[in-house]
Amino acid sequence: METLNYDFVVLGSGIAGLTFALEAAAHGKVLVLCKAAITETNTAYAQGGIAAVLSNIDSFEQHVQDTLTAGAGLCDETAVRFMVERAPESIKWLQLQSVQFDTAPDETIALGLEGGHCQHRIAHVKDHTGLSIQQALSKAAFQHPNITIAEYHLGIDLLTQSINQEKVCYGVQALDLVSGNYKAILAKAIVLATGGSGQVYQYTTNPTIATGDGLAMAYRAGATIRNMEFFQFHPTALYDPDSKDTFLISEALRGAGAELVLPDGTAFMQQYHPLGSLAPRDIVARAVYEQIHLHHSPCLYLDATRLPEGRLQKNFPFIYTKCKSIGIDAAVEFIPVVPAAHYQCGGIATDLHGQTSISGLYAVGEVACTGVHGANRLASNSLLEGVVFGKAAAVHVTSSSALHYFTSFKSLTYSLPGYDNAAELLRLKAELQAMVWEHTGIVRTRRGLEAARRKLSEIKLEAEQIRVFSLLYYELINLLTTAELIIEACHQRTESIGGHYIEVTSILPEHQVPELS
Ligand code: FAD
Ligand code: SIN
Repeated sequence: METLNYDFVVLGSGIAGLTFALEAAAHGKVLVLCKAAITETNTAYAQGGIAAVLSNIDSFEQHVQDTLTAGAGLCDETAVRFMVERAPESIKWLQLQSVQFDTAPDETIALGLEGGHCQHRIAHVKDHTGLSIQQALSKAAFQHPNITIAEYHLGIDLLTQSINQEKVCYGVQALDLVSGNYKAILAKAIVLATGGSGQVYQYTTNPTIATGDGLAMAYRAGATIRNMEFFQFHPTALYDPDSKDTFLISEALRGAGAELVLPDGTAFMQQYHPLGSLAPRDIVARAVYEQIHLHHSPCLYLDATRLPEGRLQKNFPFIYTKCKSIGIDAAVEFIPVVPAAHYQCGGIATDLHGQTSISGLYAVGEVACTGVHGANRLASNSLLEGVVFGKAAAVHVTSSSALHYFTSFKSLTYSLPGYDNAAELLRLKAELQAMVWEHTGIVRTRRGLEAARRKLSEIKLEAEQIRVFSLLYYELINLLTTAELIIEACHQRTESIGGHYIEVTSILPEHQVPELS
């Protein structure tokens, strides 16, 4: 097996991975592995923007309090303060990487509003903030002499060893998806920046890369995992029964004045929360779920016709064009919306430097659980977390003298890729996604969680018979692990809090899980 040596290896080319790489590259050689093209990340799909205190009527204290409130009391306040206080410098850093945020007439950064925020504090690039960030960071990384980008390389498993009873990670085994060859990459620090796992759910805003790979790899290596019961559901994904992909309708649209309405056009969110359509996301998603059931409707609606004339087309061109492409003129018609799985609030437990419970192993971005999101993430705090903790991890690995460098390793055994039984793997993946949606979705029940355990064991048993060593196979194995972590965390959390809602008496007249798209 080919062995490569670098100072630092990062798995993931989203905002967290590339921030780490760009900061660490001043101190050593960095390899960035990504299992698809560099720009195929959750980051590239981010719409609303990135939260930071940038106006003089706002304060760190208010951003901290909004984050703690959204997190339903389960955030780590020290981590929240760490992130919030570094937000303005993170925006400056992104500008230095050539991200051009929208500006107000006085040339300051224009600030949007999103759910759970008491102030306008969302820096954005129209409704395609993530794509602009992704393109800027990808370009900077490609141009950096100390950064090597390996696209279409799938990280499979971490290389670890126990030294004096301490678990140390010293590398990763990867599969080159183009040549089919396995490679071992050895480094002083291994950084997981593999994003979330929305693909474990049948309906998700996440792209197909979001299969929980880094989470599952870390779990197999023995790292501590936390808070996996807190999966966040976004209340407004576009309802389009003719499409396989789920397109997001940004919360920023509600921040600009759009309202959630019932099929007859009545606004209803005030009955759930004083902030109405801009309440924290878990509350809005549950309200939409409940009203969909009560009205026996396949979806609810977002009324963006309330925006001042021309604002939709000017500030939300991406959303406007997407709606147009399926025959909806959102300037004059309601947008049909449904909730969808959106964000993994839990993940690999880390400290403020991204350090996991395994020496040499770091986790940054959505794959990590730094404590900043608690039971429910505040809108637009995720891109921010990626920059803040990507940088913090880079500072830590480049100044630490405790990191080990191994020059040889014990190969994990893999057979050569066998016959890729894609149809069978896709069937099992679809079964898993439907089961996870049904039993660990927006509303959970004890009985459903028991059924989830049983069904998971059945799917696992079938998957074990296949063992074909293809991308689909590895992703399925990682999705199974992700599902197991979610199901077990749901079993352990007995009370409803934040994104984890466990039904004691039904919130619905007849308890049925809706067909959402
Ligand atoms: P990602 O950007 O997801 O990158 C993951 C990387 O890991 C990819 O390069 C992938 O190829 C790689 N990878 C995965 N597995 C492997 C493997 N096994 N081997 C090698 N590479 C691997 N957050 C906000 O703050 N504001 C927003 O406005 C916002 N809007 C959003 C809109 C949508 C539609 C979605 C889906 C999310 C949104 N979020 C938003 C959330 C935010 O975009 C993500 O949480 C964030 O971008 C995650 O960044 P990341 O760097 O952790 O991972
Ligand atoms: C959105 O634009 O609605 C998504 C924002 C987020 O996930 O933080």
